[in-house]
Amino acid sequence: MNNSQDGSARRTIWAAGHGTVEIIDQTLLPHEYTTRRLATVEEVAEAIAVMRVRGAPLIGATAAYGMAIAADVDPSDAALALARQILFATRPTAVNLGWALARMAAALAPLPPAERPAAAWAEAEAIATEDVALNGAIGDHGLALIEAAQKARPRGGPVNILTHCNAGWLATVGWGTATAPIYKAHAAGIPVHVWVDETRPRNQGASLTAWELAEAGVPHTLIADNAGGHLMRQGRVDLCIVGTDRTAANGDVCNKIGTYLKALAAYDNRVPFYVALPSPTLDLSLERGDDVPIEERAAAEVTDVTGRTADGRIETVCITTPATGASNPAFDVTPARLVTALVTERGIVEPMRLREVFGGA
Ligand code: MRU
Repeated sequence: MNNSQDGSARRTIWAAGHGTVEIIDQTLLPHEYTTRRLATVEEVAEAIAVMRVRGAPLIGATAAYGMAIAADVDPSDAALALARQILFATRPTAVNLGWALARMAAALAPLPPAERPAAAWAEAEAIATEDVALNGAIGDHGLALIEAAQKARPRGGPVNILTHCNAGWLATVGWGTATAPIYKAHAAGIPVHVWVDETRPRNQGASLTAWELAEAGVPHTLIADNAGGHLMRQGRVDLCIVGTDRTAANGDVCNKIGTYLKALAAYDNRVPFYVALPSPTLDLSLERGDDVPIEERAAAEVTDVTGRTADGRIETVCITTPATGASNPAFDVTPARLVTALVTERGIVEPMRLREVFGGA
């Protein structure tokens, strides 16, 4: 995809030589576009935990590079096992983390230690490159849904798409999952307009998705998280498309907190609710979404809000009294019955057919 100012493809993570990787520090967006070099497993783990990198596919790719960094320093079984443990402990919900770490371990374990560093960098690079390809294929399949939605609009006008959180290129290595069909539709000349949920408490919609869409020139409007149901009742949403951090075998989808409420509103208003799902985000070992571990993050993410002041300073302010505690579940589960279809790299799949389509993969 062309997402940089010179028209080339920008990635969210890349090998930067001398046993390091470089990332875009997403905690500073949209106010500052800054890259950051990670040179140790601890730095990689910190970047995932504080969400300098985030989004299920990017968490997986970053962890894979973390293993390559570890292998450069000490490729012994014991050192790699420790690195895997440190990286795995960062965030519990996105299955891509455990998937990527297991894939790295399977690639490295049979090799003599001397061969592991080169193999680890190659495997991490393969995971990153494959991610871009998977999301590109999701984009192609999702594009057909947007084309159909455009044809179904009686009076023309842009296809209004609602999305939650950031399942854009920043959440992946490239393209994004939920946004890939949107970028492809925009490039194909189909008029689209995106309703961007702000996505409290971390505001990935306001800070990241809106920034991405603005950079790509895709028409969009930021809305408060509570506005989606109202817009759907007014007939101003043609379809919803969101990402997922882990999808269970029965098609239940675990995604950013607030996704479930949007799916309920979509169901009540007969608005199609699509979930973009690359296969590494599928967890066929779990029967139901209720078995997904839900990350509980710091209360301060709810009680405090960070933004830019009129004179350009980035500041954090508290919006509660100190006497008020806060709970911060970071994800929720949307039951399969509320999901119209999953947009996968293999095509559009009904939630109940997941095992049939991906069971042998
Ligand atoms: O907490 P985050 O920002 O890592 O959560 C991200 C999401 O919930 C995304 O929707 C999901 O990872 C899919 S990304 C393609």
